Amino acid sequence: MTAARRPIPHDSAPRHVTGSARYIDDLPEPEGLLHAALHLSDRVHARIRSIDLSAARAVPGVAAVITVADVPGDPDIAPVVRPEPVLAQDTIEFHGQPVAAIAARDLATARRAARLVKVEYEDLPPLLDLAEAVEKQSLLLPPLQLKRGNAQEAIARAPHRLNGELHLGGQDHFYLEGQVSLAEPREGGDTFVHCSTQHPSEVQKLVARVLGKPLHSVTVECRRMGGGFGGKESQAAQFACIAALLAHRTQKPVKLRLDRDEDMIVTGKRHDFLVRYDVGFDAEGRILGYDLLLAGRGGWAADLTGAVVDRAVFHADSSYWIPDVTITGLCCRTNTVSNTAFRGFGGPQGMAATEYVIDEIARHLGRDPLEVRLANLYGKTERNVTPYFQTIRDNILPELFADLLASSDYRRRRQEIDAFNAHSPHLKKGLALTPVKFGISFTTSFLNQAGALVLIYEDGSVQLNHGGTEMGQGLYIKVAQVVADVLGIGLEQIRITATRTDKVPNTSPTAASSGADMNGKAAEAAALTLRRRLAEVAAPILGVPPDGIRFRDGMLQGGGNVMSFAEAVHNAYIARVSLAASGYYATPGIHFDRTTRRGSPFFYFAYGVAATEVLVDCFTGEYRFTRADLLHDCGDSLNPAIDLGQVEGGYLQGLGWLTMEELWWDADGRLRTHAPSTYKIPTARDLPADFRVRLVNGKPNPAETIFRSKAVGEPPLMLAISGWLALKDAVAAAAGTQRVHLDAPATPERVLLAIEAAKRKLAAAPEAVAAK
Ligand code: MTE
Ligand code: HPA
Ligand code: MOS
Repeated sequence: MTAARRPIPHDSAPRHVTGSARYIDDLPEPEGLLHAALHLSDRVHARIRSIDLSAARAVPGVAAVITVADVPGDPDIAPVVRPEPVLAQDTIEFHGQPVAAIAARDLATARRAARLVKVEYEDLPPLLDLAEAVEKQSLLLPPLQLKRGNAQEAIARAPHRLNGELHLGGQDHFYLEGQVSLAEPREGGDTFVHCSTQHPSEVQKLVARVLGKPLHSVTVECRRMGGGFGGKESQAAQFACIAALLAHRTQKPVKLRLDRDEDMIVTGKRHDFLVRYDVGFDAEGRILGYDLLLAGRGGWAADLTGAVVDRAVFHADSSYWIPDVTITGLCCRTNTVSNTAFRGFGGPQGMAATEYVIDEIARHLGRDPLEVRLANLYGKTERNVTPYFQTIRDNILPELFADLLASSDYRRRRQEIDAFNAHSPHLKKGLALTPVKFGISFTTSFLNQAGALVLIYEDGSVQLNHGGTEMGQGLYIKVAQVVADVLGIGLEQIRITATRTDKVPNTSPTAASSGADMNGKAAEAAALTLRRRLAEVAAPILGVPPDGIRFRDGMLQGGGNVMSFAEAVHNAYIARVSLAASGYYATPGIHFDRTTRRGSPFFYFAYGVAATEVLVDCFTGEYRFTRADLLHDCGDSLNPAIDLGQVEGGYLQGLGWLTMEELWWDADGRLRTHAPSTYKIPTARDLPADFRVRLVNGKPNPAETIFRSKAVGEPPLMLAISGWLALKDAVAAAAGTQRVHLDAPATPERVLLAIEAAKRKLAAAPEAVAAK
């Protein structure tokens, strides 16, 4: 029996549910462990005049108190663009920025001492508002602009024109395991770090940098994360570096684990976006010219904002061919926390903007948004070039639309819902169907590489290691399935091991949904090398040429003869043949030229469609999602059980972003939603009452990916755009006008206000409702 393509449970599932899966805070504490705490600034933008650490240092049990001045190496931990000091340097750039770090014999002592750090400030004027940042051109990086034809001319010539503005909110990662690192000084000045990170190699690099040491003296290990969602792609490093600095200073092991409030205050989130659009279209709603501004809030530092805004720009075509188009992406600088990767990485914001515009076009013309979507959809062999001039060769959206329209019974339900709304004064239903097309590959091309290490022991058991990290998404089991199939052995013969920088070096973050694609291929390469070696040893014994041997069911079979895998391994060992192999993979054929703004940054696209129905109580704005039909493309899924979970979880996380998760900063720039009491994430109860999720069947990836599968981690999140636009549909029904505006997150409060605002608009100018 082969392992790949089967719905095998997550390798840690029993440990997850019994509590025996170890996260970093569960590890046995090393002798002499110190606990760390941070002093966070209570200013939003200020110059640091002086820092007095004496009271903190005087607390009994405190082993060390450090500021940026105590960093032996380079204190800058920017992943891409400097400056990003590990602790505040000279100025405070956002409320809650860490200024000092304390190590003490227990956590309570460390936290008490942290409050005794005294800082004198000279306040500076803060820039908090995103629109103001756009106006003042407060930017972290130069803009990226995609351009084809002349959008403004096409808009001016078009029979219809609309323009407007939209705000899309941010989102906290709310991984169940917060940021945590445990650093240990080792022999010879080496440092070992357990870190909950999607990017062990970057943590290694930055720990080495702050300590002023070569990379070979630092080892980073991550067995698993209790969720990452992008929040541990770049931003785990700061806490690992602080733990390592304190460990270096005290020569004791140090653990730094943020509590939930600190984590939410100190770490970056999904970028909120200000969107401005100008669009020209014909009577069928076909877009003729489109001019779009996507202004993302980077916060105080660049972090990954450049790449996030790039991906927003690359996904603002959504699934539609737009002849004359200009898309401009801005990386705005404000005195707020530095925003970072979050599932979809800007893609959801770019897609949501254009799906909103399509919805506006349809309402303006008095058409079903579905028909406008179909009219604009990318073609298969024509109308298939993106605004960055990549030709789309794998478009399966027409089939997916046809399939979901039938299975969700969309057209009949559309009529039923309209009839229901006509007779229901206070409860209104809404329905929307939206597509997803998501580009797979890091847009930072050099990151598209991976490595693996496969070891076979003398008894035929196998250890598997690769550069990918496990955050609950099922990467480890998928890669193990690949190796099991290549070697023709059972999964139980393969031991999955923790990701470590001393096993596979110079790895990329597990991100951009590419973990299984890339590490699967790298592990396959290593396993193929080992298979070839074993075949050469076994060939003379079985009496067949090496390539006549099949590896299956724990056996080598050839010429009617068989040999067990363990026997072949033993023979190879005796024959002095190496049983260890590394494998490497680099995604072929991708490129993008920032100066010409042209290229093919994506290896392929992943697709999906979703139809979501909602029921709104017009007295309160409260709502329930009554039904959702999802159809998602995983190519030939490596593991349909894992992938189904990714589709369900991604959709619900997207629904949280667009509907209930609201981040709220006060006028002084302080985040006031920093705990589950004030920040509401979706739970199982918020799932659509009737939830029908399917994977596309029988469509292998035409791109040569691992076993023709497709990446699945991020794309399904964007299926939730249908939920948000279903709410907009219900708001229109409730207000009795198509002129509605609904920012995200569409909380019950915002839904209620949207209904009221639309009603007021209608009362002020009833004549404008008539279709033009
Ligand atoms: N699923 C779980 N359970 N937990 C996570 O943290 N992160 C998502 C997605 N699915 C995440 C998840 C994000 S942001 C990405 S990029 C991918 O998983 C990364 O893993 P992959 O490349 O192996 O799919
Ligand atoms: N996705 C996720 N992470 C990244 C990317 C990307 O495209 N580029 C750089 N880091
Ligand atoms: Mo995912 S946002 O690419 O870590």
